[in-house]
Amino acid sequence: MSNEASEPKVINPLPAPLDGTMTVPGDKSISHRAILFSAMAEGTSRLVGVLDSSDVRASIDAVQKLGAKVTLEKQTDGSLAGGVEGWGEAGPKQPDGPIYCANSGTTARLLMGVLAPWDIEVRIEGDASLSKRPMRRITAPLMKMGVQFDPAGAETLPITERGCRNLRAITYNSPMASAQLKTAVLLAGIRANGVTEINEPSVSRNHTELMLPEYGVKTTAGERTARVQGPARMHSAEVRVPGDPSSAAFVVCAALLKRGSAVQIENVSLNTARTGFMMTLEKMGADVNTRRTGSAGKEPYGIVSACYTERLHGCEIPGHKIASLVDEVPVLSLVAAHAHGITVFRNVEELRAKESDRLEAIVSGLALMGVDAWTEGADLFIEGQPNLVVPEGLVFDSRGDHRLAMTWALVGLTGRVPVQVTDFGSVEVSYPDFLEDVERLCR
Ligand code: S3P
Repeated sequence: MSNEASEPKVINPLPAPLDGTMTVPGDKSISHRAILFSAMAEGTSRLVGVLDSSDVRASIDAVQKLGAKVTLEKQTDGSLAGGVEGWGEAGPKQPDGPIYCANSGTTARLLMGVLAPWDIEVRIEGDASLSKRPMRRITAPLMKMGVQFDPAGAETLPITERGCRNLRAITYNSPMASAQLKTAVLLAGIRANGVTEINEPSVSRNHTELMLPEYGVKTTAGERTARVQGPARMHSAEVRVPGDPSSAAFVVCAALLKRGSAVQIENVSLNTARTGFMMTLEKMGADVNTRRTGSAGKEPYGIVSACYTERLHGCEIPGHKIASLVDEVPVLSLVAAHAHGITVFRNVEELRAKESDRLEAIVSGLALMGVDAWTEGADLFIEGQPNLVVPEGLVFDSRGDHRLAMTWALVGLTGRVPVQVTDFGSVEVSYPDFLEDVERLCR
């Protein structure tokens, strides 16, 4: 996202219920992986449905600076499709300058794994938000494998990485469920001698384990464990990226909050490590459904549908389910604010380390609306108000965080009075046409 201050965006109430069928842009996690893995592989991979957003552009820029040839082109549906020619066995080239990952934590963290086996020195940088996010969780296991970082104990970017051609395969018992951490370790493990294994306290998204075999790498995708067999040669692959459930979640929640709405979103990833929000909404009594229609590689996809639901009730989301809905906590909190009773998200401390401190942002944004929300230890509590009347003239601070910008936009879109959202341009990170897509469903 840009750090330039701009006028807050005025978000007006939708003139009619959301009604109809749509698609959402490609999955951000899968898009990043398709670009990075193709860059690592020998030959030219063919990708379709890649998300065109500033985060994914950061990954494209990074692999280009390292010598991959990217010929992805904008399609009429807004996605990117085309080829990525990787560096394969020759390895990445020493870039001329630092690699700037902008706002993208996925680019920065996965890149550390990509660079791990190569004898080049790369300075990794990010924008103001990314430069505050924890990196030690990635550098710690990679150092055990033989990678060097400067400064060695750096907590945050900028960090300079020097890889190592003789990486040690490790078994790592991760202190947290993080797919970014898991992926960095597995990517390094591809060129280490032996089996690299990572165990997690709960299940995190598994796109890496599911996609690497397409590139010729043997993986094991267990419940809370993943393994890669090294050393492996990566060959090119064909990847079709399904729609992003995290983007679909905003449309689903809009439909649940706007009276009379009924929407269907096609071609959405139905990977269960990502659809925790649908299960939670169901638990809250929402009229939501999923129907599988196919699979792209090992990734299932299908239709997600949602209808306005009069009576939602609060529920408890246990800590071990959080990773399956981690990016949806802000928008689920907004739905919880309209439900009967209290909703509790257990063990959501990790939200403090996202693009902004999302826990603090949720509590203060809901307070602005007159909704009681608070944290106690690592848990988040929201006391819903089924007949909530949002006061006029609210200005929400998105903190330059795309998921917060879209969450607070829903207050205006589904309510009776306009709201303003600061730094709304941050939606460029994951869902550039969010507003247009939702408004189109009301015509
Ligand atoms: C992601 C993993 C999650 C998620 C992020 C994307 C990924 O982060 O919040 O938006 O693509 O692997 P963590 O791995 O830090 O939980």
